[in-house]
Amino acid sequence: MLTAPASNGPSQRLTLPWWRDAVIYQVYVRSFLDSTGDGIGDLAGVRSGLPYLKKLGVDGIWLSPFYPSPQHDHGYDVADYTGVDPVYGDLGEFALLVGDAHRLDIKVLLDIVPNHCSSEHPWFQQALAAGPGSEARSRFHFVPGRGPGGDLPPNNWHAMFGGPAWSRVTEADGTPGEWYLHMFTPEQPDLNWRNPAVGALFDQVLRCWLDRGVDGFRIDVAAGLFKHPELPDSPDPEADARTRDSVNPLAWNQPEVHQVWRRWREVCEEYTALDGRERLLVGEVSVPTAREHALYVRPDELHQAFFFDLLGAAWDASAFRTVITDALRDIAGTGSSVTWVLNNHDQVRTVTRYGESDPKGSGLGAARARAAALLMLALPGAAYVYQGEELGLPEVVDLPDEVLTDPIFRRTGSRARVRDGCRVPLPWSGHASPFGFSAGTQVKPWLPQPGWFAEHATDRALADPRSFWHLYREGLQLRRGLPQLGEGALRWLESPPQVLAFERGDGLICAVNFGTEPVPAPAAGAPLLSSGTCPAGTLPGSTAAWWVVASATNPHARPISSQ
Ligand code: NOJ
Repeated sequence: MLTAPASNGPSQRLTLPWWRDAVIYQVYVRSFLDSTGDGIGDLAGVRSGLPYLKKLGVDGIWLSPFYPSPQHDHGYDVADYTGVDPVYGDLGEFALLVGDAHRLDIKVLLDIVPNHCSSEHPWFQQALAAGPGSEARSRFHFVPGRGPGGDLPPNNWHAMFGGPAWSRVTEADGTPGEWYLHMFTPEQPDLNWRNPAVGALFDQVLRCWLDRGVDGFRIDVAAGLFKHPELPDSPDPEADARTRDSVNPLAWNQPEVHQVWRRWREVCEEYTALDGRERLLVGEVSVPTAREHALYVRPDELHQAFFFDLLGAAWDASAFRTVITDALRDIAGTGSSVTWVLNNHDQVRTVTRYGESDPKGSGLGAARARAAALLMLALPGAAYVYQGEELGLPEVVDLPDEVLTDPIFRRTGSRARVRDGCRVPLPWSGHASPFGFSAGTQVKPWLPQPGWFAEHATDRALADPRSFWHLYREGLQLRRGLPQLGEGALRWLESPPQVLAFERGDGLICAVNFGTEPVPAPAAGAPLLSSGTCPAGTLPGSTAAWWVVASATNPHARPISSQ
């Protein structure tokens, strides 16, 4: 039996902190709902969507960056960490959004980007003007180049989005000058966290938003921040370039980063001590193993860190089992709770990733995505749901080149079509674009929506009891009502190799058939909830189901047919 301990250091209270088993909905603001009719989602749109999210049953929302930004990486290039970009609204609208969310008992998490800022941030502009050797430049990584005339980059590091991780500036006198480091695009210069001014800036930023009422932060690139002080060559630059993952051991996962998370945790605890509200830090942590990941969620560091291995696992029972076992052993073992993720704004959507060939998403990929959702919601810990996941939206794989805006496409010489297809604005209603996303029918959303989005629109999903939406809603409701779900023990049950079956707490059984042929159900009777039709006594292929076997008196011990 694997048990997740019920405490996490300084936050230990008699009742469990809300975040330990919360389900958070990721709002990609740009693509959620557009209230102004300019084709771009905004904060007022998010506010008007809150009742929809309440009905779905999530505990909180994470808002993708809405700060002033030239949008070279859709807001992950921040020019002002404490403002709102006029494209998305203003501070007044933000305050209304937080107020409404809290009235509905929905927590609000912001996305904070401490590894890099925008090249339009005043600090970077000052650094360009101030020249070599200045204090302004020491807030970034400015260094002379190598080779004759300093014409070569200072080292062999690759940027995550393609090309070298260095760009050269032209000094004020017009001569070719120093190089600066950017692990993503040249418009996103990396900050130098060895300069105390950087930490001090982010202390102020955290406090500013905490004072404005937010419940916590999703931290971008949380294993970044510190680079090896000597900036030496990477031992395997080709691997860094190939995987587009944080594999360069000199640029990522440096031990000094942990002191930042201790500091941020202190700031959160300070606010909690004032008003008793638990604040949450959840890190985007990409590191090679679950064991290294666990270091980020030690009791005095981040509360949680996304565990991307579930997202990365192929549709295969033993792959999923290994990932789940490692996470529960290494992460829950620290006292944190595992933070499960199947989708986000950087990944191909599950319906497509799990083998969809039909763009409308009604086939195998959809069945597997439904099953994966029930699996995730039955695991101990917290879960993050990316907008559109509750609609079973497939990836839009055929966007024409000219509409693509992901900087990865441009930086890889138009080779990698990676992240636009999961960011297409949500369909809400109707039969034609903008499908209720924008106020007005003539508006063109910032990325074009295909005609088949109509079949996934929220109005249809709500009206169809067999939709993804109802599956998520039932799952979330049951999670709230059943003491076995959320935190607690997971015990694997004997099952055929293509099946995962486990028991949560006392008598809640979840099974997933990763194969294509039916298998005998691991529990008698009709399931409490299933991702597809389950004929008596069987679990069909590509299907997951939950059963309550222990207590006939349990008020939830009744079958719910979701398809
Ligand atoms: C991770 C974010 O999820 C991604 O969208 C962004 O482009 C990079 N970090 C750089 O900030």
